[in-house]
Amino acid sequence: MPTREEITYFGAGPASLPTTVLKNASSAILNFQNTGLGLAEHSHRSALSNDILATTESSIRNLLSIPKDYTVLFMQGGGTTQFSAVAYNLLGYWVQGQLDKANGDIEVVRERLKKARMDYVVTGGWSQKGSEEAKRLFGEEKVNVVTDSKKVFGRYSGIEEEKGWKRTEGEERIFTYYCDNETVDGVEFPGFPRGLEGGVVAADMSSNILSRRVDVSKFHIIFAGAQKNIGTTGLTIAILKSSILQTQPTPTTLRALSLPIPPIMMSYPMLAKHNSLYNTLPIFDVWVAGEVMKGLVAAGGLAKQEEVANRKAEKLYAALGRAPGIFKVVPLEGARSRMNICVRAQPAELEGVFLKGAEERGFLGLKGHRSVGGIRISNYNSITEASVDSLVQYIDEFVQKNAQI
Ligand SMILES: Cc1ncc(COP(=O)(O)O)c(C=O)c1O
Repeated sequence: MPTREEITYFGAGPASLPTTVLKNASSAILNFQNTGLGLAEHSHRSALSNDILATTESSIRNLLSIPKDYTVLFMQGGGTTQFSAVAYNLLGYWVQGQLDKANGDIEVVRERLKKARMDYVVTGGWSQKGSEEAKRLFGEEKVNVVTDSKKVFGRYSGIEEEKGWKRTEGEERIFTYYCDNETVDGVEFPGFPRGLEGGVVAADMSSNILSRRVDVSKFHIIFAGAQKNIGTTGLTIAILKSSILQTQPTPTTLRALSLPIPPIMMSYPMLAKHNSLYNTLPIFDVWVAGEVMKGLVAAGGLAKQEEVANRKAEKLYAALGRAPGIFKVVPLEGARSRMNICVRAQPAELEGVFLKGAEERGFLGLKGHRSVGGIRISNYNSITEASVDSLVQYIDEFVQKNAQI
């Protein structure tokens, strides 16, 4: 049975958390700050919980330089719940915006709605799932797949140049959605897609949030499940342009337009009105996220984290690149993720040998996602540079040994 110190977990999520955070968490869950009660037992409406919420919000605002006109929500249900929440709330935002422009004339909006589309940039399994949810909720015809990497490249291995994207034009576009880092496929946007500037954009940053600086003002919604770079599974953070909250139709309007009404737990305005406490929020998870963020702030913030994340990723890609006869990185250059490095070994039986040898050295969680196979090295924030150096050493040794065969 290995100890925590003997292993490095490169799994894609839930990911490992900093050991110091977990040590503090283990005492916090028993007796938080000498209150006699563990943190998971404290009321989410207590002053203590409010403090935790405020501190964690202030840390994420600090780290991401979130502008004042943005709201931060702490939610539950993971990234998957946001697939639905984003579509409901941004459709509502569009409907009310159109209604305001038409001086409240619902018949005008009904007509405009017929041609309106939600644009999805599909570059991997997670954006594909997001698009499927929008189709399920609002109908196939309401979703326009702007680009589908699987069709363009034969698999999710790249990002088509923007000039090839087939976007909905002008006001008929309800919003554009993309996934900044595709965890399963190892595809990451190198930066904000230029053509989306100025539009209503939502991004799933579940697996690369807090790993680099982001210009939040370019987005209407950024969301992330916590279990990779933020904290524990279940907690989900949504960062919203506050105008979305103020511009929403009533349920009566939605009904009149034959549109579904968002379940209350997916209504951003309702959650914001209650400062994320419409129902019982797991404050322990919010506290863990706060502790992780405190560590990032102390280590130099996101500029520093970005530098470290890039360097770790470069070292890993360089090691794999030294052995093109054995390792083949799946995604194309220019779209390679710094967080999830997806690679195939050849001949295929070497993959099992590599994984077994890795496990013997305490490198766990390296098996690729069940849908694509191969090897996936998840290089999240909690993976230290020293751990990456050790893995690189193993890769080099493995290559030396197998190149001789
Ligand atoms: C990019 C991305 N989006 C969404 C999800 C779904 O998150 P959850 O399982 O928390 O619903 C994941 C899960 O790994 C993910 O990696």
